[in-house]
Amino acid sequence: MSRAIGVDIGGSGIKAAVVDIDKGDFDGERVRFGTPQPATPEAVVATAREAIAEFPADLPVGIGFPAAILDGIVMTAAHVDPGWIGFPGNEAFEEGLGRRCAMLNDADAAGLAEMRFGRGRGEHGVVLMLTLGTGIGSALFLDGQLVPNTEFGHIEIRGQDAESRAAASRRKADDLSWNEWAALLDEAIQRLDLLVWPRLVILGGGVSRKAEKFIPLLTARPQIEAAQLQNRAGIVGAACRASEVL
Ligand code: BGC
Repeated sequence: MSRAIGVDIGGSGIKAAVVDIDKGDFDGERVRFGTPQPATPEAVVATAREAIAEFPADLPVGIGFPAAILDGIVMTAAHVDPGWIGFPGNEAFEEGLGRRCAMLNDADAAGLAEMRFGRGRGEHGVVLMLTLGTGIGSALFLDGQLVPNTEFGHIEIRGQDAESRAAASRRKADDLSWNEWAALLDEAIQRLDLLVWPRLVILGGGVSRKAEKFIPLLTARPQIEAAQLQNRAGIVGAACRASEVL
C-alpha cells in the first residue's frame, strides 16, 4: 500500500490524515485543529506541525492551501493573513514540519481527488470542480489533466466577488433559504459557463452532503453533480499530489 499525509488548510480548520493512495481514502483517523488567528505563516506552520506530529515520519506531506500557489510561493491570501502573499510556503512547511512537502491550491487538491476517485472518474473533456465553503474554490480539468490555480471564486458578479455572493458561508451568515442561496450559486455557475463551457460541474465542500437540497434548484446549462468524496477530497488530493511529486 502506498501512503502519504494530506493536510487541508482552511480559514477555520487545519485537517490532516494519513491517506491510502491506492484506495483514495483515509488510513486511520483524521485530526482537526482550529486555524490560528491571525493565520500568519509562522502560526499556521506551527499548527500544521502539531496536526501531523503523530503521523509516520517517513511519509511525504501534501498541503492544500486556500491560495494560488506558484512554484511553492503563495500568491494570494483571501482567507488567511496577508503576510502569506509572496511567501515561500513550500520551503517554510518543509523546514517547519521537517518533512518533504508539496503545496498546492486547496480546490485543485479536492479536484484531483474527485477526478481520480470520485464523481469525475473517467470523465473526459472540460470538467469544472467548485468547492463551496468559506470561499469558492475552483479546479479546471481537461481530459483529467488539471489546469492549476484557476481562481473562479473571484470573478465579479454584480460588482461583487462571486464567492462573497455565493459561497456556502454566505447562506449561513445571511440565513438564506436554500432557494435564495441556490439562485446566487446558479448565477455564478451560469457566468462561469460562459467563460469555460464545462461538460460537467462537480460541486464539493461540506454542503455537498446536502446536495439534494440545492442541486435540483440549479438551472445552469452544464450537467451539475455533487462531489462524492465530500470533505475528504482536500486531504486525499493533497496526499495524492505528494505521493506523485515527492
Ligand atoms: C481562494 C482560493 C481557494 C478558495 C477555497 C478562495 O478565496 O482565493 O485559492 O481555493 O477560496 O478555499
